[in-house]
Amino acid sequence: LREPLTPELRDEVRALIVQHKVIFLRDQHITREQQLAFATQFGPPVIHPLQKLKETQRKEDLPQGMHTIVPPTAEYGHIPKRRTWHSDGSWTYPVAFASFLRGVEVPEVGGDTIWVDAGAIYRGLPDRLKARLEGLYVTHEYKELALSGISHPIVAHPAVINHSETGEDLLYVDFIMHPWIVGWDRADSEALLSEIYEEVLRPEYHLRLKWKKGTLAIWDNRSTLHTAIHDYGDYPRRVERVVVGSNDVPSRDPSKRFVLPA
Ligand code: SIN
Repeated sequence: LREPLTPELRDEVRALIVQHKVIFLRDQHITREQQLAFATQFGPPVIHPLQKLKETQRKEDLPQGMHTIVPPTAEYGHIPKRRTWHSDGSWTYPVAFASFLRGVEVPEVGGDTIWVDAGAIYRGLPDRLKARLEGLYVTHEYKELALSGISHPIVAHPAVINHSETGEDLLYVDFIMHPWIVGWDRADSEALLSEIYEEVLRPEYHLRLKWKKGTLAIWDNRSTLHTAIHDYGDYPRRVERVVVGSNDVPSRDPSKRFVLPA
């Protein structure tokens, strides 16, 4: 991964990410700069608005576009414990394409990451739930930005999207971005989203990674949700991420697809 990819190889790797949704490359002992250079061959880096505000990021002087992930007790303690499944960059517009996450320091036991296949979830829904989701939009509200004094619009996307490259129907709800079904009463919205969340938790839709130092996980944020397992006590765990953007505005109806000019 230290070498630049030819355009043909880059397109081949991109196609693998889109097709398989998550891929893992082991033993990639690369630097942050090399990780950033590799990832940004697939899209522009998403510059996180909190990057400069977060203590952890500032202290380490990370390159623009590189984020460290810290255990939730340190910075994300306010997120309800039950709901941790999310898609990186769903709160941006257009949404993020892929994340490139590298294991830098990982515990010997625990600290796995799990992905769920958003297409499998949708296909597995009972017809009753599929019908209820049809036509609904759900908010992706990054409330922590407002709490940090950063103004950012609340984005809403269809609850079910059609993948712009594969044409697959996918559940697209980010459970840490304070989802609320647009136009619905809060309680009704919560009731439906709780039912959907039960589907996300089904292990038959999951893929679980045991990290090793030097593992690089790459995934398509449009077709997966993910969560990290915080079962490693005080052992150090450090993973570093680059998220790259797309020009993709998620849509339910492929005939009404809207893609921003590159
Ligand atoms: C994340 O939750 O975005 C990062 C996943 C991880 O820490 O493994």
